[in-house]
Amino acid sequence: MGFFTKDIKSLNDLFMHGLQDLYYAENQIMKALPGMIEKATDAQLRAGFEKHLAESEGQVHRLRQVFELLEAEPKGDKCPAIDGILREGRDLMSEIDDEDVMNVGLVAAAQAVEHYEITRYGALIAWATELGRTDVVPMFKANLAEEKATDQKLTQMAERRVNPKAEKADKPSKPKSSARRKAPKAATRPVKAKRPAKKARRRA
Ligand SMILES: [Fe+2]
Ligand SMILES: [Fe+2]
Repeated sequence: MGFFTKDIKSLNDLFMHGLQDLYYAENQIMKALPGMIEKATDAQLRAGFEKHLAESEGQVHRLRQVFELLEAEPKGDKCPAIDGILREGRDLMSEIDDEDVMNVGLVAAAQAVEHYEITRYGALIAWATELGRTDVVPMFKANLAEEKATDQKLTQMAERRVNPKAEKADKPSKPKSSARRKAPKAATRPVKAKRPAKKARRRA
C-alpha cells in the first residue's frame, strides 16, 4: 500500500498505515544492524550499534503493545523509504575499504536511519493525540527518546572521534588547526604522572 493510494480514507487509516510502516521499518533496522556492527572498527561506534540493536528489540515490543491496545494484529507494511535508506547504507559499505572512512560512513548511514525514525515517531505521536488515543503515546515517546539519544551520540562520535581520524587518513600532511580537532587527542592522551613520581622519590 502506498501513502497516496485510496486505501487511506481517514486520519485513523493514515495512523494505522504509519504504525504498520514503522513496525516494518524497525524490523528491517534490526536485520541491518548486525552487518553494521560487523563493519564498525571504532569501539565506541560498535558498542553504540550493539546497544541500539537491543533497544530496537524493545522498540518492536512497544509497537506490539500499541497494536494490542488498538486491538489490531501486529503487521508490517513495506516501507520504500527505509528500504532505500538501508540499501544506500549497504551500497556505501560495499564501496569502502579504509576502516576510518568506513566508520565515518557508518555514522552517517545510521543517522539517516535515526532521522527517518524521529520524523515517523513524531507524526505518530501527533496523529494518536489528535485521534484521542493518548494511551499509546507513551510507547511512541519512549521509542522516540531512544532514537533521539542515539542520534545525539552519533553526532558526538562524528564530531569528536570518527571524522577527525578519517580526515587525517585522507590528508596526512595537513596540520590540525582547529580547537575541535585537537580536543579528542587531548582527551584521550594518558595523564602524565612523572613529576609527582619524582617528588615522591626525593622524599623517600
Ligand atoms: Fe528504532
Ligand atoms: Fe533507531
